[in-house]
Amino acid sequence: MTKQYKNSFSGKGVFPPKYAFTLLIPFRNIFLSPRKLSQRLELQENHTVLEIGPGPGYFSLPIARILKKGKLVLLDIQQEMLDMARKRMKKRKITNVEYELCDGESIALESKSFDRVFMVTVIGEIDNKDLYLKEIHRILKDDGILSISELAGDPDKLTQEELESLVTKYGFQTSKTYGNKKNYTINFTKIKTLH
Ligand SMILES: C[S@@+](CC[C@H](N)C(=O)[O-])C[C@H]1O[C@@H](n2cnc3c(N)ncnc32)[C@H](O)[C@@H]1O
Repeated sequence: MTKQYKNSFSGKGVFPPKYAFTLLIPFRNIFLSPRKLSQRLELQENHTVLEIGPGPGYFSLPIARILKKGKLVLLDIQQEMLDMARKRMKKRKITNVEYELCDGESIALESKSFDRVFMVTVIGEIDNKDLYLKEIHRILKDDGILSISELAGDPDKLTQEELESLVTKYGFQTSKTYGNKKNYTINFTKIKTLH
């Protein structure tokens, strides 16, 4: 598969690893802090959690720390991003994390195995959104939460309306909305039957 990279920092497309350092600037907490995100995810320490598109792991690291008896799986389309996240975890001796490289065309993870699936400033970059949403529905437990955050400044950002109309086509309903139009998180839960 050919990846459509951004050709500039502010362009649309898959985020280039050479700019990954900008995703680690603590200034980002003004828009969304890892602490706020973990509250929105309603995490419990034994949860199994999937983060799609972790980049270098700004949110992954504090979230892995909360999952003392659980685990975090990081799924990214770029090996360089997974390598950066792994290095940061290793430095802090965090061991409950697994790393999965994907090809953007399938998600090779077990059905109904995750309590939470989340992504931050990723959904707009995903080419095959239909396939991802079907796959997320498959791998999420029946009482699980899909949580999607979008932040100001992301050229691929979806509006709340665009996101809700997309996700609710795939057997999800909106359960909670946090933040404002610029920076928001929407949590979705599974509805029993897929229409
Ligand atoms: C803008 S970065 C966000 C990184 C991180 N979520 C954060 O907020 O710091 C987008 C990430 O999504 C990944 N990505 C893009 N398309 C993807 C896909 N189809 N599947 C998995 N990851 C993808 C990119 O490689 C990159 O790591």
